[in-house]
Amino acid sequence: MKFPRLGVNIDHVATLRQQRGENYPDVTRAADIVLAAGAHQITIHLREDRRHIQDADVPSVHKMCSHFDLPLNLEMGCSDEMIEIAILEKPEWVCLVPEKREERTTEGGLDVLSPFNFDRIKLACEKLKKFSPETKISLFVECHEEVLKKCVEMPIDAVEIHTGDYARDFQDSKDISHHLKSYKKLKKIIKNAGLGYHAGHGLTLSSLEPLLKEKIFEEYNIGHWIISESIFLGLGPVVKEMLALINKYPLED
Ligand code: PXP
Repeated sequence: MKFPRLGVNIDHVATLRQQRGENYPDVTRAADIVLAAGAHQITIHLREDRRHIQDADVPSVHKMCSHFDLPLNLEMGCSDEMIEIAILEKPEWVCLVPEKREERTTEGGLDVLSPFNFDRIKLACEKLKKFSPETKISLFVECHEEVLKKCVEMPIDAVEIHTGDYARDFQDSKDISHHLKSYKKLKKIIKNAGLGYHAGHGLTLSSLEPLLKEKIFEEYNIGHWIISESIFLGLGPVVKEMLALINKYPLED
């Protein structure tokens, strides 16, 4: 039986590290734990402003993925600098995303409808395919008919549907049926072109389930919720470990 793949985005392990300028928590150690737990790939986003993942993390996380013989999915903006990095690193997947410095997280999908942007993205894909032919490419886009029809004109391997609005509506207990309907309906455009149909952004354990039930996507990339939840699952044992150390050293003999 075939099941959907889970890519775990570990950007926010780096967020915590960068917040204090320390060398912990170690992103590569996080990749090790995630892959040892059975996840199917690691996703990291090297942002232009380097707010979380740093350049040195990319080869280090990639090496850990290779150790498990599993893919690294490198998310990046469509700039010359990023395409050069991808060509040097040759990750198994590159996911091209829109990037604005002022945004808190990736807001919305790539604009493939404006001819200028379409050409820019297509050129970037062609360059990647030429200099790193083994690297598969996905485009992070909104689930709109015109958008997906433009995507299939590009030399890509998959689209990743931005599930942010769906996830927000789910969190707010609003109707989600229209999202599910369009994800299912427009899947045909992508499958007819022989491409992969991936999803990500804002998903939680609860909001993932309706998508799984409907058997919509083949791959999910999930980060913020997994890292957040791991605080609660890990906090107790870590405090116990520290108390065990403290309790070895009474103040008076
Ligand atoms: N997929 C893409 C393309 C993203 O940009 C992000 C956020 O970096 C994710 C998946 C993961 O989103 P979240 O952290 O909200 O689960």
